[in-house]
This record gives sequence, structure tokens and C-alpha cells, in this order.
Amino acid sequence: MKLKTLVAGLTGVALAMSMAACSQDRNATGGTSTSGAATTATSTDGGLVGIAMPTKSLERWNNDGAHLVEVLEGMGYTTSLQYADNKVDQQISQIQNMINSDPKVLVIASIDGTALSPVLQTAADKGIKVIAYDRLINDTPNVDYYATFDNYQVGKLQGTYIEEQLDLKNAAGPFNLEPFAGSPDDNNAKFFFSGAWDILSPYVTSGKLVVPSGKAPATNDDWASIGIQAWKSETAQSEMQNRLNSFYTGGKKVNAVLSPNDSLALGIEQALEGAGYTVGTDWPIITGQDADLANVKNMLDGKQSMTVWKDTRSLGDQVAKMVDQIIKGSKVDTNDTETYDNGNKVVPSYLLDPQVVTKDTVESALVGSGFYTADQLGL
Ligand code: GAL
Repeated sequence: MKLKTLVAGLTGVALAMSMAACSQDRNATGGTSTSGAATTATSTDGGLVGIAMPTKSLERWNNDGAHLVEVLEGMGYTTSLQYADNKVDQQISQIQNMINSDPKVLVIASIDGTALSPVLQTAADKGIKVIAYDRLINDTPNVDYYATFDNYQVGKLQGTYIEEQLDLKNAAGPFNLEPFAGSPDDNNAKFFFSGAWDILSPYVTSGKLVVPSGKAPATNDDWASIGIQAWKSETAQSEMQNRLNSFYTGGKKVNAVLSPNDSLALGIEQALEGAGYTVGTDWPIITGQDADLANVKNMLDGKQSMTVWKDTRSLGDQVAKMVDQIIKGSKVDTNDTETYDNGNKVVPSYLLDPQVVTKDTVESALVGSGFYTADQLGL
């Protein structure tokens, strides 16, 4: 490498490093931009990477966006990070605006995975590569890679946790279960539900698990019948309140709740408290996902049994690596070329492993890894 180029390169890296160092700390709340606003970070001219995130109102996406910007800047790329406030049309126009700035790669966590076909055609027409981030984008050939945690495994961990905690293999039962599913427009939600229901439905069939509300999908494909739109805590809370008021009279109690993620679990926990359930007496087993701060605190207080932790930093690191490989024309890491058929093609994917965190492992897993500080958790 010529000396002049080397100096320029090193200067660029130094600039990128200094900007990365001052970028949003992952532990800070609130993320790096107001919803809908674009944050464009410039560093050396490795090229522009567009990052489209669904919303800032669900905690994990703030962490995803901030970490992706930090890692990509550190690699010398320019980033444009935008949040669409869970509004599909807003996300489409944000992606179109990014395309107009000629990014090398688009990283998209879609709100509705079936709504992006037209805008991704304009990306493909300009040779822009697309990585679906965490949520698969469907019904289009113009998504090049997918990176996520193993979504079916997330659900399996939740179902297995309930199976083990109730000792369904040996106990006589019956136990009362209330199942919930994620947003009907989120491709992940069917995988979460299937992973859990493949474990639990045999017990529903045998009668060892009873669903007093009657909200037990007949098959995995019926999961959307118990879906909570946009993963809203308040919607899950009112649904749980309705179930408790209608089907849990005369002293009947819920023994377990299948909640696919922490935002729903938070609403369900609030409904249970409102109905007079208390920890240590009649509080049910409750599952979750994402290790959101309020839910981890609830786990420490005994109000949530487990969460499936997906370290967003690991996903961001993997996606940044794939972006770099695409731009440099090298082989792109994937470890699953069979599972994720998006209705048009099987999208080559990289799956990371999720892990169960409980009250007993919060400190070792979440504080030990630096995901949270002890101070944030009141430890
Ligand atoms: C899913 C995501 C989960 C869940 C939900 C709400 O697609 O994989 O982490 O929390 O969205 O953001």
C-alpha cells in the first residue's frame, strides 16, 4: 500500500475511532435519534449504510440501532439510522430516501415484512444490497441476506421452561395456561409461537394443560388469533384483564402465561397485579424475551420467571461483518440456507443462539457481559 494511501487510511480510521468513541453509549436510554428523524454519522468514506429500524417505543431497537452505528462507524462507514414509529408507510418512505442517497447496503428491521417489495425493487435496480435484520422480509427476491437469533429456538426455550417449571412430564395437573402471540405483521411471531406450542400443545391435547379463556390455537398456523398488534404492552394488559375477569372467577387461578416477549409480559404482569395476584402466593409462571430493563427488574422482584436474552450487540456485530463482506466483495457469512423461505426464495441467513436468563443468572449473564450495569438493576 502506497505511503500516502496508508496515511489517509490510518487518518480515516483514527477519525472513525474517535467518532465511534463519542457515539451513543449502549447503556444510555433513549437511543440516538428521535423517532422518524434521521441520524447520519459520517466517518471515512467506506460508503453509506442505511439502517431502518421499526420503532423506538420497543426498547431493544434503540440498542440495536445505537450499536450498529457504533460498529459500522468504527469500520469506516457512513450510516443513516432512522426509526419509523411502527408506521409502515413512514418506514417505506425512509427507505426510499435512503435509496436516493445511494447506500452500498440497506439493513432493515421491517415493521411489516410483506410491505417492502416495491421499494426494494428500486434498491435492486440501483444494485443496493439488502440485509433483513432480525425480522425476515417476505414476498420479494430483493433481500440478499437475513441475520437473526434462532426464532423457533426462542419459542422452544419458552415452552420448555413452562414444561419444566410445572413438571408437565410427571405432575398430574391440570394446570391453567394463558397463551399469547406476537404482532400478526411480524414474521418472527409465528416462529416464536411454533417453537413454544410444539412443546405445550400435546399437554393441551391430553388435558394436563387447560386454557380457560379458550384462546388455544388449534394449530401453529392459527397463532395470529392470539396475536397482539405492534407488540403493545397496553393491548396485552387489557387482553389479560378481559381473560381474568371473564374466565377466572370463583377462585380459579392462572398457573402459567406464555408471553412471547417482554413488552407483552409487562402488560400481563400489570393485569395480574390489578387482579390481586401476589408474588410468592398465586403469581404464575411468566415467560418473556429481550431482557428489557423493566422486565429484568421484575424478574429480580419475582414478577417474571424468565426472559430469552438475545444480545443485540452480537447481532449488530454479525450484521456489520456481513455489510463489510458485501461491500468488499468477499464471501458473506451464513449458517442457515434452508429455514427462511420468504415466499419468493430461501434467504441465506445467519442465526445466533438465544439464551434463557432467570433471576438466578441476571448478574452473571447481563451484568457480567456488560449488557446492563449493576447500578441500572439496583444490584
Ligand atoms: C420481534 C423481535 C423480538 C420482540 C419483538 C418486539 O420481531 O425479534 O425481539 O421483542 O419483535 O420488538
